[in-house]
Amino acid sequence: MAGPVDSYAVMGNPVAHSKSPVIHTLFADQTDQRLRYTAMLVDVDGFKKAIDEFFENGDLGLSITVPFKEEAWQLAEKRTSRAEKAGAVNTLWQDEHGQLHGDNTDGLGLVSDLKENNGVTIKGARVLILGAGGAVRGVLEPILSEQPAEVVIANRTRSKANTLVGLFPGEAISANGFEDIEGRFDLVINGTAASLQGEMPAIPGHVVDQNTCCYDMMYGAEETVFNRWCREQGAGKTIDGLGMLVEQAAEQFAIWRGVRPDTRNVLDLLRNEIA
Ligand code: ATR
Repeated sequence: MAGPVDSYAVMGNPVAHSKSPVIHTLFADQTDQRLRYTAMLVDVDGFKKAIDEFFENGDLGLSITVPFKEEAWQLAEKRTSRAEKAGAVNTLWQDEHGQLHGDNTDGLGLVSDLKENNGVTIKGARVLILGAGGAVRGVLEPILSEQPAEVVIANRTRSKANTLVGLFPGEAISANGFEDIEGRFDLVINGTAASLQGEMPAIPGHVVDQNTCCYDMMYGAEETVFNRWCREQGAGKTIDGLGMLVEQAAEQFAIWRGVRPDTRNVLDLLRNEIA
């Protein structure tokens, strides 16, 4: 039976570090929506059971984080086309017939942060994306929808970049290793996990000039290794992934509640909190 307050949660493992409860609670306050949003640590083998119990309990929607996004994709009975291409789902909800829907808002979050918060034009841009794991796959369709002139995916393991390119036949997208990337780019996006190890992908400095915008999908209290490197190469602008986090959450909130919150204040608050 549904509880008195509409209930949402983020499921992950680990999940204690998640900022989603703070973000969604701020969105709810701002838009006068009465809801509860919690973090749920789920056993790595217990994801299906956890979501079944969650929705049987009358709870309404879930954010999904590491390591369950691919499993959420498999369990969703209906997927949006961007989720289909992403191969991962970060948003789950049930419709009135009890059917489980999945979406992926990560790419929309990245595009919103670039365009709305930072005034970056993707249309017509030459775009380099570093990495070819789940994080990059999740953002490719929304980036391509903006009609960049060209997208180059460069990965340490080149075959994985080739695989991603194969998902978008006929589009202006190609694969590369790190060493042989040619020319400069308007936008360079880091979607590798290298920052987690404090490492910089081994890309040539010529990809960046003073008109290049560099975007690290990671964020932290300190400038990321990637953004520092880009700044040292003379990049015109460097942005970290905190805005993407807030914007992908705003898209989730809009799916669940039918109203898109204003993200500016929430982003400012989080920026102060992590500093
Ligand atoms: P995620 O879901 O975060 O994308 P993933 O699927 O494990 O995680 O992918 C990690 C990505 O970061 C891969 O593109 C990986 O490169 P490989 O495919 O060659 O493994 C990249 N990566 C991780 N550590 C890296 C490092 N130190 N330098 C460069 N790339 C790195």
